[in-house]
Amino acid sequence: MIYNMKDKVILITGANSGIGKATAELLAKKQATIYLVCRNQSKGETARKEIIQKTGNDNIHLRICDLSSMESIKEYGLKLRAELSHIDVLINNAGAMFGSRLESSDGLEMTFALNHIGYFLHTHYLLDLVRKGEDKRIVNVSSMGHKMIQKIDFDDLQFQKNYKQMYVYCQSKLFNIYFTQILAERLKEENITVNCLHPGVIGSNFGSGGSTIFKTLMSIARPFLTSTKKGAATSVYLASSDEVNDISGAYFDKCKIASITPLAKDRDAAHKIWNISMEMCKLKEYGKV
Ligand SMILES: NC(=O)c1ccc[n+]([C@@H]2O[C@H](COP(=O)([O-])OP(=O)(O)OC[C@H]3O[C@@H](n4cnc5c(N)ncnc54)[C@H](OP(=O)(O)O)[C@@H]3O)[C@@H](O)[C@H]2O)c1
Repeated sequence: MIYNMKDKVILITGANSGIGKATAELLAKKQATIYLVCRNQSKGETARKEIIQKTGNDNIHLRICDLSSMESIKEYGLKLRAELSHIDVLINNAGAMFGSRLESSDGLEMTFALNHIGYFLHTHYLLDLVRKGEDKRIVNVSSMGHKMIQKIDFDDLQFQKNYKQMYVYCQSKLFNIYFTQILAERLKEENITVNCLHPGVIGSNFGSGGSTIFKTLMSIARPFLTSTKKGAATSVYLASSDEVNDISGAYFDKCKIASITPLAKDRDAAHKIWNISMEMCKLKEYGKV
């Protein structure tokens, strides 16, 4: 059963296009108050207006953050903490793949910075707001792409030696599963649930930052891929169904708990990535700002 979302505050990153936008729209239809977190003001504003127009819900707000930048996350995060009383559901969704090796403003490989540190640090700054929410849910959009990774090269986490766009992307999605598991463990006593999901293979803008070949293949395949609305189904389920009230630390596909690889169950590796991320973000205590 799906909760009535009226009076719930839901925040979704990467909500101006693709799965994030469709998730925002479906939750807006349930009358929730939605915060769209986007990096581009005009794209975000266009999405905000479209969602209001389609759903009749005008409690749709836009906040700007470049989730690949620690400085941007901090600035926006501190502002939001001062502004909001709570968040019921936090959905980390913004993600991308990059055709060649780029670096973020912090000198991190861009996929790692956006897809992993973007979830990790964003949640750190907003965790106190989730603590004050009623629902206390965190949802991380991962991918079945994590299954491609057999081994983590801890000596080259930033892919300085060997950059392959799909491999780098899939490893970042494995780290989303690690983040989900460790955070779920840490927040168990506080009754905050943390789950992650594979959305399906979806005809979104995904791949627009990929190599020319990948972009071409995606533009041919896109019309045949699953719709963004269907791609949003598991995010919406994890955000709003009472069937998952007591489930935490799990990976979902098609609204059901799904299998992950032995590597994705490796708690030592998960803790190692957590500790490395803490150091990179220069955090003393996670979730305490
Ligand atoms: N599509 C699939 O088949 C598939 C499969 C498995 C998992 N996923 C995951 O689903 C999630 C959503 O992807 P999608 O398929 O909906 O792709 P998408 O249409 O490209 O949407 C990605 C969103 O992330 C935003 N974003 C990118 N870089 C950002 C940054 N630096 N700061 C803030 N926002 C940023 C984008 O904003 P701009 O428009 O400004 O770039 C866009 O709103 C991702 O985590 C992806 O890994 C997708």
